[in-house]
Amino acid sequence: MAAADTPLLQVRDLTAQFGHGGVVSQVVNGISFEVAAGEAVGFVGESGSGKSVTARAVMRLAPEGSSVRLGGSVRFDGQEILQLPEAAMRDIRGRRIAMVFQDPMTSLNPVMTVGAQVDDIVRRHTGLTRRQARARSIELLELVGIRDAARRADDHPHQFSGGMRQRVLIAMAVSCEPQLLIADEPTTALDVTVQAQILRLLLRLREELGMALMLISHDFGVIAGMVERVHVMLEGDIVESGPIDAMFVQPRHAYTRALLDAVPRLDGAGAGA
Ligand SMILES: Nc1ncnc2c1ncn2[C@@H]1O[C@H](COP(=O)(O)OP(=O)(O)O)[C@@H](O)[C@H]1O
Ligand SMILES: [Mg+2]
Repeated sequence: MAAADTPLLQVRDLTAQFGHGGVVSQVVNGISFEVAAGEAVGFVGESGSGKSVTARAVMRLAPEGSSVRLGGSVRFDGQEILQLPEAAMRDIRGRRIAMVFQDPMTSLNPVMTVGAQVDDIVRRHTGLTRRQARARSIELLELVGIRDAARRADDHPHQFSGGMRQRVLIAMAVSCEPQLLIADEPTTALDVTVQAQILRLLLRLREELGMALMLISHDFGVIAGMVERVHVMLEGDIVESGPIDAMFVQPRHAYTRALLDAVPRLDGAGAGA
């Protein structure tokens, strides 16, 4: 059990390497960061900077269809994740740390009803009967703002819009009330108006469930107003870290400034000004 002042997540000198035919390429270069219980932390950086590999490393997962060599230390609730037996890891994944991905189109099974997919997740992590699981699924779908949830549970994914599918995936992610939710570009595939709704939902769930949140985006505009602290990633390194408000006022790194300049501003100063 972790002491009260131990961060929920403590990452030290994390490295990630891929091997291809004897050639090793390192894509995360020994980064360190912490996430306190209930805290929201942002990760921003251009495409390919190592955000997703870092996010998956926290769950000790490789990008789909590949294997990755991880080094350094990832401590979750005082426990070293990188050394944990796979069985113990499976108990943490999905139950204590959950993840939401970019693409709500491909993450759901097209031939199963939405309700059945939520039921599966609920039953995998609890001892609930089929009937009890369905009641819990409907509760979860209502929690994420799906109207008429009892009826919609019998629909298939193609009957849901992109935003509604992402809500379903968020319902599945929070079904076990994880201590940490990792959202990796959760709104990138969605229309702008829907993006704002999904971000508001994540904010509300974080408050209601007391979860910590790692919010990952290539876009500073997405994480603004969502997190207290932010880490800026570039080519596998964290190049700048700090409170997001201060960073908006005075970025220290030229790369951070370039990322901020790409965000449209309400005061009319405009991108690139
Ligand atoms: N399966 C893989 N095999 C080899 N290299 C990969 C693989 N997945 C990602 N990479 C590389 O790792 C780096 C970081 O990728 P990623 O974490 O996905 O970036 P981001 O999420 O910031 O866009 C990139 O250079 C990418 O090309
Ligand atoms: Mg990514």
